[in-house]
Amino acid sequence: MSPLHVTRTLPEDATDAALRADVLNGLTDSPKWLPPKWFYDARGSELFDEITELPEYYPTRAEREILVARSGEIAAASGARTLIELGSGSSEKTRYLIDALPLAAYVPVDVSESALTQAGQALVAERPDLDVHALIADFTAPLALPATPGPRLVAFLGGTIGNLLPAERTGFLTSVRSLLAPGDGLLLGTDLVKDERVLVRAYDDAAGVTAAFNKNVLAVVDRELGADFDPDAFDHVALWDAEREWIEMRLRSRTAQTVKVPALNLAVDFAAGEDLRTEVSAKFRKEGVTAELAAVGLDLTHWWTDAEGRFALSLSVAR
Ligand code: SAH
Ligand code: TRP
Repeated sequence: MSPLHVTRTLPEDATDAALRADVLNGLTDSPKWLPPKWFYDARGSELFDEITELPEYYPTRAEREILVARSGEIAAASGARTLIELGSGSSEKTRYLIDALPLAAYVPVDVSESALTQAGQALVAERPDLDVHALIADFTAPLALPATPGPRLVAFLGGTIGNLLPAERTGFLTSVRSLLAPGDGLLLGTDLVKDERVLVRAYDDAAGVTAAFNKNVLAVVDRELGADFDPDAFDHVALWDAEREWIEMRLRSRTAQTVKVPALNLAVDFAAGEDLRTEVSAKFRKEGVTAELAAVGLDLTHWWTDAEGRFALSLSVAR
């Protein structure tokens, strides 16, 4: 069996410095915010996996339905020998692609070391012929990829692109394009604009798993920076912004309170009812996705949705 290769492009102390900078910037801004990548420590990755099984959270099931139906077509169209997956998490849905593509190498990229090593070890055990090269890295920073055979297919599933702000998306897609040679592909999962009630429920489930996931970012700041956030002193809020067409996740302070962050020598005042913005999840339309891809040199060739038209998977080709 070939071993699992793991490369860390994030030095431990860089992660720490980045967290400090983000928390300082976000908590001293108005309105207050925290960036989403800090949700995914081991506990956060576990909670996200629970989210994907909730009755209200349809995106995972819808995207799996498309992958089951279309992996053969994706394989025929891309012929990829290397699959690079950004924000791979558990790599659970990716199995359909890995089984269909004529792959020599799979390169999962994630900030969550626990998710990467678990998924990677399971894969090398099942597929001894496959070179699995896991990268612990921030996909919003430039990536150094291992030398593996082309053609390449980059997969970015789960609607995670919606967690980037529109201005960040352009830079991100430009750097994805720079990983591709002409003819290489991008397989992109995008959640679609739909009924507001369906959207809000997907981010505010009855069992409270998404609330626990949202509050987990406070536990990360408490643990890493010695802060004294009390997760119970905040309410989980999910709002649909109809103009920007995104779901916005917030943590709303139940009372007036002061939170101390000793590692930053910071005391942060919250008014009763004040919101801390934690994440957006943008929803898309075909025209918008096509235009954003075309703007960076990626031509959309396929657009597949689930039977209910809730979620889309698109394949585009580098010019
Ligand atoms: N692709 C999986 C997981 C989606 S959840 C699915 O479709 O179910 C988003 C994943 O992206 C998580 O595993 C998280 O750890 C990872 N992630 C979030 N921000 C990231 C960043 N900036 N760089 C690398 N990985 C990131
Ligand atoms: N990529 C997922 C999404 O936007 C991430 C996610 C699901 C999420 N539920 C969440 C992020 C709740 C923060 C809070 O659908």
